[in-house]
Amino acid sequence: NKKGFIFDLDGVIVDTAKYHYLAWKKLANELGFEFTKEQNELFKGVSRKRCLEILLHDIGKVNYTQDDFDRWMIEKNEDYLAFISNMNDSEILPDVPKVLNYLKENKMPIALGSASKNAKPILEKVGLLPYFDAIVDGNNVTKAKPDPEVFLLAAKQLKVDAKDCIVFEDAVAGIQAANSAKMISIGIGDKNVLSEAQFNFNDFTEINIKFIEELIKN
Ligand code: G6P
Ligand code: MG
Repeated sequence: NKKGFIFDLDGVIVDTAKYHYLAWKKLANELGFEFTKEQNELFKGVSRKRCLEILLHDIGKVNYTQDDFDRWMIEKNEDYLAFISNMNDSEILPDVPKVLNYLKENKMPIALGSASKNAKPILEKVGLLPYFDAIVDGNNVTKAKPDPEVFLLAAKQLKVDAKDCIVFEDAVAGIQAANSAKMISIGIGDKNVLSEAQFNFNDFTEINIKFIEELIKN
């Protein structure tokens, strides 16, 4: 059967978490609060809107209007965009191109499955856009991970059966989404955190081509 390969973006292809952190921290500080790396961890794989809801809840802010909320969303994103404006290919995580190149050489369909609304410009900045046959991101889906919608849509666009798709993810919700789409889930990051994944690697340097070869064959 034809296989399809689906990649999450943030934390899998590039480490944008540090820029999200800076932007959320700036907003929290402006509201008179701190924002920690630990809080930022919990924002991985979570939509922008949901992140802001969590932030406001955590700092105990209850008196705000819908206008305030919308303004903060815009402000956070504008700051984030400013932080990522100079991103380039040096920010691609180690050995990601090794895997992408192998898949391309073997004519494997490749998709992006991300919660971010900034996915496309980021891929463009780091020069990886040409590798992707389909891009499904925060602009195309209504239900966030752990809902499988994002990956099912990616499979559909690749014209590959869900069960023949392989998903690379760094967020627990992303692994759950892949599993509930009946796809093969590969956790990139802490094995103890991503224990629900079918396969675990700390990063792409641990993935050898033999492993990818087997995925294509089986
Ligand atoms: C990814 C990141 C999250 C981020 C979300 C939305 O899932 O891991 O931290 O909140 O995308 O990103 P956006 O670029 O649309 O604000
Ligand atoms: Mg991620």
